[in-house]
Amino acid sequence: MAEYKPVIIQTNSETEFADKAAQLLWEQLVELDEPLVTLPTGSTPAGLYQVLLERYGDQSNIWEQIRYLALDEYIGLPEDDRRLFQNWLARDILDPAGVPARRRITFNSMADNPAQEADAMEDWIAENGPIDIAVLGLGGNGHIAFNEPGCSFDSAARVITLAPETRQANAAYWGGLEHVPEQAYTLGLKTLARAKQILLLVSGAHKADILDRTLNGPISQDVPASFLRTMPNVTVIMDDAAKK
Ligand code: GLP
Repeated sequence: MAEYKPVIIQTNSETEFADKAAQLLWEQLVELDEPLVTLPTGSTPAGLYQVLLERYGDQSNIWEQIRYLALDEYIGLPEDDRRLFQNWLARDILDPAGVPARRRITFNSMADNPAQEADAMEDWIAENGPIDIAVLGLGGNGHIAFNEPGCSFDSAARVITLAPETRQANAAYWGGLEHVPEQAYTLGLKTLARAKQILLLVSGAHKADILDRTLNGPISQDVPASFLRTMPNVTVIMDDAAKK
């Protein structure tokens, strides 16, 4: 397995982190025709979305042709549930920026057959992809999207059972563990590996250890994000706090 060194962009504050991420992402978006883009939820990208809206919110000709592709999603929540990642991203970026609803490719949380729904997503990407820019966050346990430790590097979009620590981390957003579904969809590592560009966002001292393992530890299923080092086109944007 070939190994590559991701490009690392180190920033020295939360503000600079959001700023650089917005600049880099925007520079790529404007170059592309109908770019297929994934965007993460979580607290890491909150500043990025704010800066994008402040700085480029009026560029509707760009936003209208973006195709947003879901990275992951909870299973079993109704369409209007505010916990759905598609609704989170609608609030934070897609609605205010004006990404058309028809250009949002999402998982149906209430699908009768979630496994089939995940397969349909993989088929859609095979036909309409590849992903142009995969913007990713880093889970505290090394997950990317919801590819939890132990998952195969060869994995496609699928249904997964969330790791206890992931449910715990997500509980903070929804007021308790009982509000976090146990199952979710995720794009697979193989799906993400085909992306033309990958942008991994990492901020905060609580991510320093796992980022170090991602970049310098063994490439292993124990840290799914370490698999990014088998891809030639990865940029990591981090802040000082995330440096070990
Ligand atoms: C969540 C999401 C990921 C996200 C990660 C980190 O569980 N499924 O897409 O990147 O965890 O979240 P945070 O930025 O809040 O640390």
